[in-house]
Amino acid sequence: MTAVPAIPVPAPVSFPEFAGPPVWPASAVARPGGDVALAGVPLTGPAERYGTPVHVLDEEEVRAGARAWRRALPDADVVYAAEAFLCRAVVDWMADEGLGLAVRSADELELAASRGFPMDRMVLHGAAKSPRDLRTALRLGVGRIVIDSPCEIARLASQVPGPEPQQVLIRVRPGDGAEGEFGLSAAGGEAEDAAARVLGQPCLELVGLHCDPGSGAASPEPYARAVRRLVALLARIRERCGVALPELVLGGGFAPGRAPGTYARRIQGELLRACAESDLPVPRITVEPGRSLIAPAGVALHRVLATGRTPGGRTLVAVDGGRDDGPGPAPSVRMIGRVSSAPMRTATVVGRLGGPGDVLADGVELPEDVRPGDLLALPGSGARGVPAAGCPAAGRPPVVAVREGRARLLVRRETYEDLRARDIGL
Ligand SMILES: Cc1ncc(COP(=O)(O)O)c(C=O)c1O
Repeated sequence: MTAVPAIPVPAPVSFPEFAGPPVWPASAVARPGGDVALAGVPLTGPAERYGTPVHVLDEEEVRAGARAWRRALPDADVVYAAEAFLCRAVVDWMADEGLGLAVRSADELELAASRGFPMDRMVLHGAAKSPRDLRTALRLGVGRIVIDSPCEIARLASQVPGPEPQQVLIRVRPGDGAEGEFGLSAAGGEAEDAAARVLGQPCLELVGLHCDPGSGAASPEPYARAVRRLVALLARIRERCGVALPELVLGGGFAPGRAPGTYARRIQGELLRACAESDLPVPRITVEPGRSLIAPAGVALHRVLATGRTPGGRTLVAVDGGRDDGPGPAPSVRMIGRVSSAPMRTATVVGRLGGPGDVLADGVELPEDVRPGDLLALPGSGARGVPAAGCPAAGRPPVVAVREGRARLLVRRETYEDLRARDIGL
C-alpha cells in the first residue's frame, strides 16, 4: 500500500513580521505549497487566470466592515466614502448593507445611478465641484450636497430646479488645525455667516454641519473634539438664526483595522454630554468611512521582475505594478506559491517607476532567495492603490472579487487597445 501524504490542515495566516492590527482579511488561511487562500480561493489562482498585477477584494470582508459600523452606531447613518475605491459591485454591496455613498464627481454619481443606488442616500462633497458635478447631482436628485465654500451657496441656489428645496450641509473647519484647509471656519464666524445665508435661500434646506477631523486616526479623540466644537457651533447658529440643525457628519479618516466601536462610544458619549450642556436636541450623526472599510479587504498580487541589493544590504525587489497616491506602503508582504527555506531578509519592494514615490512595501521580511517570477501578495491594498499600473501609460490592473470559494472579475485589465483608443494623437 502506498502511503498517501497527508494534506496539511489550513492554518490561519500568521504575521510574525507585523505587530500592529491584522492586515489580512479574516478569511485568509495558509495553504500547502506556500499559497494563501482568501474566502476559500487560493491566491495563485487569480494571479494565473487574470495575470499580474491583480487586485483581489474579499467581498465578505467589505460587507462585514460595513455591518460593523452599522452595529456600532445603530442610530447613525453610515456612508461609504467612495474616493477609497469604487466600481459597480461596490455600489451594490453598499446598497445591500444599507450604507450611503459619498462621492466627489459627476461620473461617480452616474455610476451609482446606473446601479439604481438610492439617491436619497448619496452625498456630493469636495472642495472642487465642477458645474457638471452640481448639474448631475441636481438632475439625479442626490440626497445631500456639502457646501465647501461661500461661493457655492448662490451657485447652487440658482440651479435648484425645485419645487422641493435641495438638502445641504456646510463643511466646517472646527478649529484645531487637524481638519485640512477646505471648509468654512467655525472659529472665525465664517461657518455661522454661511449658515445664515443658506437659511435665507428658500430653495436650499440646511440640514446640518459636516467636517472631516481625522486622517488614519487611530484615536477617537479628534472626533470627540470635533463633536464638542460642532455642537458649540450648532448652539451659536440656533441663537443667531433660531434653528437647531438636525444633523452632524463626522467624515472618515478612521484607521484601518480599528474597531468602529472604539470611535462610536467616544462620539456618542461626547455628543450626549455636549448637547445636554448646550440644551440642544441630539442631532443625528453620519460617519463616512472609506479606506478603513475597503483597504483591509484587498490583497494586491505582483510578480517579481528583478532583485538586487541596496548599498545598506537590503534586498531590493522590483515588481510588475506600482502605486499611485494611495495610503502608503503595505505593512506586510508575503511570498506565495512557493515554499522557501532560505533565511528571511529585510526587503524593499518597488514598482516599475522604482523611485521613492513608488515604494510598495518597505522594511518587510522576504526570503533571501526571492527571485524573478515569484509572486508577492501585499495585504491592506484595497484602497486607492487599486488603479495603479506602474507607469503612466500602462494599462491599469484588474479587480477580482472572491467569495465563498469563487473568484469573479469586477473590473477587467485595461488593455493597450483601451489606451490607444483614448490617445487620439492629434
Ligand atoms: C469629507 C470626507 N469624508 C470621508 C473621507 C474618507 O476618509 P477615509 O478614506 O480616510 O476613511 C474623506 C477623505 O478625505 C473626506 O474628505
